[in-house]
Amino acid sequence: LDATTTAFPIPANVYAERVTSVTHYTDSLFSFRMTRPTTFRFRSGEFAMIGLPNAAKPIFRAYSVASPAWDEELEFYSIKVPDGPLTQHLQKIQPGDTVLLRQKSTGTLVLDALSPAKRLYMIATGTGFAPFASLLRDPETYEKFEEVIVTNTCRDVADLRYGNELVSGVREDPLIGELVEGRVHYYATTTRETSPRMGRITKLLTEGTIFTDLGLPPLDRATDRIMICGSMAMLNDVKDIAEAAGFVEGANNAPADFVVERAFVG
Ligand code: A2P
Repeated sequence: LDATTTAFPIPANVYAERVTSVTHYTDSLFSFRMTRPTTFRFRSGEFAMIGLPNAAKPIFRAYSVASPAWDEELEFYSIKVPDGPLTQHLQKIQPGDTVLLRQKSTGTLVLDALSPAKRLYMIATGTGFAPFASLLRDPETYEKFEEVIVTNTCRDVADLRYGNELVSGVREDPLIGELVEGRVHYYATTTRETSPRMGRITKLLTEGTIFTDLGLPPLDRATDRIMICGSMAMLNDVKDIAEAAGFVEGANNAPADFVVERAFVG
C-alpha cells in the first residue's frame, strides 16, 4: 500500500504539491524536489512544515528548505528513520506523489539574523547541511559576505555526498559560479569511516585545525559570523565554542554574531 496516495481530503490552509524528483544517497539519507506554490514565500535558510496526505490529520514535521528562495521548486534533504512518524512514509515517495506544505515558513538561520561581517561560517553535521544548501545558492549570501566557509561532518564518506555535490554544483553553476569563485571554502570531514579529513568539527575548531587547513585566521567576532545546524548535542558544543570566543547569539529581531538551529530529527 502506498501511503502517500491513499485518499484523504487535503486539510484547509495547506498546500498540496507534487514531487518532481527523488534522490537516495544512502540507506538513511535522501533528497526530493517538489512544485512550489507561487504564493509560498520564504527566506533562504528557513524551515517549512511538511506532511503527507496519508491520514485524516496528517503529521507535519519541520524541514529546512534546501533550495534557495529564488528557485521555482522546493528541495528538501532528509534522514530516513525506520519508525519515524513522517520519514518512514516520506522515504517511499515517488515523482508524482503529493506532499503537503503548510503556508508559513520560519527560522533563525537567515542572513537577517546576522550583523554585517567579512566571513560567514556555516557549520553542519548530518542533515544539518540542508539550510546551507539553500543559503549557498542564494546570491544575497555573497552580497553580504566576502567569504563563506561551509563545513560538513558525517559518520561515513557516503553521507557527505549531498553536500559535496551541492558545493560542486554551486561552483560550476553558470549564473552563480562566477560570483562565488574563490570565495567558498568547503570543509568536509568524517568521524567514523576513514577519509582524507577526519574529526568532529568541535575538535577541529578548538584545536585550530580547520583554520590551519584553510589558511584562515582563528575565529574573530570582528570579522566572522557563524550559523550552526546539527544535533542538539552538536549545537550546544559549537555554541559553547562561539561564546567562548566572545560571539553573541543573534535573532531575527536582534541581529548579532551567530545563530543556531536544530537539524530535523525524525
Ligand atoms: P560521531 O561519529 O563522533 O558521533 P549523527 O549521525 O549521530 O547525527 O552525527 C552526525 C555527525 O555529527 C557525526 O559525524 C558525529 O560524530 C557528529 N557529532 C555528534 N555529536 C556531536 C557533537 N556533540 N559535537 C560535534 N559533532 C558531533
